[in-house]
Amino acid sequence: MRIAVAADNELKPGEMKRVSLDGKRLLLANAEGQYFCVDEMCSHEDYSLYFGCIQGKRIKCSLHGSYFDLASGQPLNEPADCPLRTYPVSVADGQVWVETA
Ligand code: FES
Repeated sequence: MRIAVAADNELKPGEMKRVSLDGKRLLLANAEGQYFCVDEMCSHEDYSLYFGCIQGKRIKCSLHGSYFDLASGQPLNEPADCPLRTYPVSVADGQVWVETA
């Protein structure tokens, strides 16, 4: 399933948006002008990464401080040791599109 989740100029670099899509809670993030989409909830505990912050192309969980690579979803430091799921993002027709299938 591919769906438009934001206007292409909706988020400034460093901003995020929570998206509910296909029964999943996702996080759309603008990191250095590029859009990424990952699971909203941290893989360590059930805590929203929306409350974290974006640094470069990484997102930091504000509960225990793990960083995740937004492109790969891989955790970069403990305590998280499982990757976030990532979703393909494209920009077309003035919209940001996310694919979940
Ligand atoms: S809940 Fe995110 S690092 Fe612990």
